[in-house]
Parts: sequence; structure tokens; C-alpha cells
Amino acid sequence: MEIVLKGIWHSYDNQIMVLKRIDLEFKEPGIYVVLGPNGAGKTTLMKITSLILRPLQGVVLVEGVDFWGLDKEKKEEIRKSIVYVHDKPILLRGSVRDNISIGMKIRGKIDEDLIDHYIKRYSLAEVQKRSVHRLSAGQAKAISIIRALVLKPQVLVLDEPFVFLDDSRARILVEDIVDIVNCGGKVLIATHYVHKELRNEINYVIELVSGEIKSVVKIH
Ligand SMILES: Nc1ncnc2c1ncn2[C@@H]1O[C@H](COP(=O)(O)OP(=O)(O)O)[C@@H](O)[C@H]1O
Ligand SMILES: [Mg+2]
Repeated sequence: MEIVLKGIWHSYDNQIMVLKRIDLEFKEPGIYVVLGPNGAGKTTLMKITSLILRPLQGVVLVEGVDFWGLDKEKKEEIRKSIVYVHDKPILLRGSVRDNISIGMKIRGKIDEDLIDHYIKRYSLAEVQKRSVHRLSAGQAKAISIIRALVLKPQVLVLDEPFVFLDDSRARILVEDIVDIVNCGGKVLIATHYVHKELRNEINYVIELVSGEIKSVVKIH
């Protein structure tokens, strides 16, 4: 699914512009890293690209169509292909397993085997029946990411995915991200630093500073 941002501006208070004249294309499958310091506008840009936040100005084209001009039903249909994972893990009341299956439940089909696969892969078997209040930050982050992975989205958007993850989970996540790209998908990662596990897998680096694109570099 191609996403193109054209002339995007955004402000939360109609005064200070946090994104300025952003033009970006997410056409080819690949790993796109949006790199920039705190406050650069990465999260805002990720939410706009994930079709969650409507920009103040500019056009978001999905497969060439102006997304925000579509009716509610078409918007919901397109949104199923894009999953955004917040920087701070947002978990709902219930067990670890309940949380992982939420997205699948909403879509009408829970694949228990796939959930088992990811629970083992991210070393969460011991805590899977535990209430989410009794987890480490790294475990909570892994759960919020798995909840997205089990949906096998065409476009996966990860906001600061490596912040709480240990190196072994980070390595596994990079493998899973590469798998999505090998299946023709796109993975967007907003981060303030490039994790060593990710370094060799990046296809594009988009540098964002003070709400402006400083550079877009194609790595390979
Ligand atoms: N909900 C909000 N309301 C008002 N200002 C916001 C909100 N979210 C972010 N901002 C401001 O927008 C700017 C960009 O923030 P953000 O997109 O979160 O950047 P980053 O993810 O790069 O740290 C910051 O100055 C931040 O304070
Ligand atoms: Mg952010």
C-alpha cells in the first residue's frame, strides 16, 4: 500500500507549527527510519502517516486517493492495513494473552497458534496469564508490539520500539520486521537513535529536525 504525504503542516494549537511542509513517499517495501531528536515531530508525523491524526494542512494519499476525503466506511477499510504502535505501551485491563489478542478479536478471528508462537518468541510464556499491571516495561513494550505483529499489517508503524527492549528482544523484533518487508510490506520506525541490531537492515533514513525534513537517504 503506497502512502504519499504532500505539503503536510501540523499544529496542535494553531500557532506553533510542529510539522512544516512535509513531502514524503512510502512506495517501495522497506524499512523506513524517521530519525530526529526529542520534540522534532516524529510522533506527530507517524500518527499522520498511520491515518490516526488529520493534518492541519496538506494531503495524505493512499494508493493515490486523498484519505481524508473518503467516507467513514472506506477510511475504516484502509485503516485495517496500517497498524501504529505507540511509544508508551498502552495495555488494557486483563491478562497478557487478552491484550495480545485484542486486535484479532476486533477483526473477528483469534489465531491462538500464532499468539503462542509470538509469546514463546518474545519469552513471555511465564507471564502470559499474568495481569498486565505486574510486568516490566520491556515486557509491556513487547506485548504492545506483538499485538500489532499478529495482525500481519501491510504497513507497521513503530514509535520508539527499542526504548525498553533488551538486546535479545530487539534482535528478534528486527528479524520480524525484516520478514514483513520480505513479504512486500513497509515498516516505519520513529526513533532518536539507530539501534545496533537495526543498523544493517535500514532501507531509508528520513532525518527530521524541528518539524522539517532535513534529508532522505536511501541506504540500499
Ligand atoms: N497533543 C499535543 N498537544 C500539544 N502539543 C503537542 C502534542 N503532542 C506533541 N506536541 C508538541 O509537538 C512537538 C512535536 O512533538 P512529537 O511529535 O511528540 O515529537 P517527537 O516524537 O519527535 O519527540 C513538541 O514540541 C511537542 O511538545
Ligand atoms: Mg515521539
